[in-house]
Amino acid sequence: MNQDDTNTRSSNTVWHHATVNRLRREQQNQHKSCILWFTGLSGAGKSTLAHAVEERLHQMGCRTYVLDGDNVRHGLCGDLGFSEEDRKENIRRVGNVSKLFLDAGVIVLSAFISPFMADRQLVRNMVTPGDFLEIYCNSPVEVCEQRDVKGLYKKARQGEIKEFTGITSPYEIPGNPELTTNTGTEVLENCVSQVINLLTIRNIIN
Ligand code: ADX
Repeated sequence: MNQDDTNTRSSNTVWHHATVNRLRREQQNQHKSCILWFTGLSGAGKSTLAHAVEERLHQMGCRTYVLDGDNVRHGLCGDLGFSEEDRKENIRRVGNVSKLFLDAGVIVLSAFISPFMADRQLVRNMVTPGDFLEIYCNSPVEVCEQRDVKGLYKKARQGEIKEFTGITSPYEIPGNPELTTNTGTEVLENCVSQVINLLTIRNIIN
């Protein structure tokens, strides 16, 4: 059976332990791995921030990868919509993918609306405390709607998109994130610095 997944239909599988493990990969990389989990409304700037942080980390010589809702929903999660149930499954899958990247020694930057506290908690519980750093990208819905980069808020208001987060579907604000960054009001560079600072304080990078 899988190492920690008791809720699986894949019986008669045996977990294979690798000789090259996370610790050895981290030593080779000269930094630790972690999951940076960016949560917030559509248009809050999660992907923009995640990619800007990745750019900075890459220039520092770190191994990184961005997982992003819009991209992942083209492939791995292409069969999922935006009902509460589908969002839950989306986060379960990308949470597990994030965990694989963690094991691969990579700083994985996961940018998903992930509107439900329970789903984010599920991912947090998949890993060791300290491996999951929740970053709340705080931008008021009015700001996101005014920016409306993808034109989706307009469509949601016109009833063309159902269950749209912040309009007709809820977003549960994180109660105790490792970082709240005001992507709605602060300039990108400040938000990037706050995330880099968090990684430094947590000894992920030095
Ligand atoms: S999540 O809720 O399951 O975490 P995810 O981050 O993967 O969402 O995808 C969100 C993206 O899908 C948005 O940025 C937007 O471009 C698009 N989208 C399409 N329909 C919706 C909807 N009903 N609610 C929110 N986002 C939607």
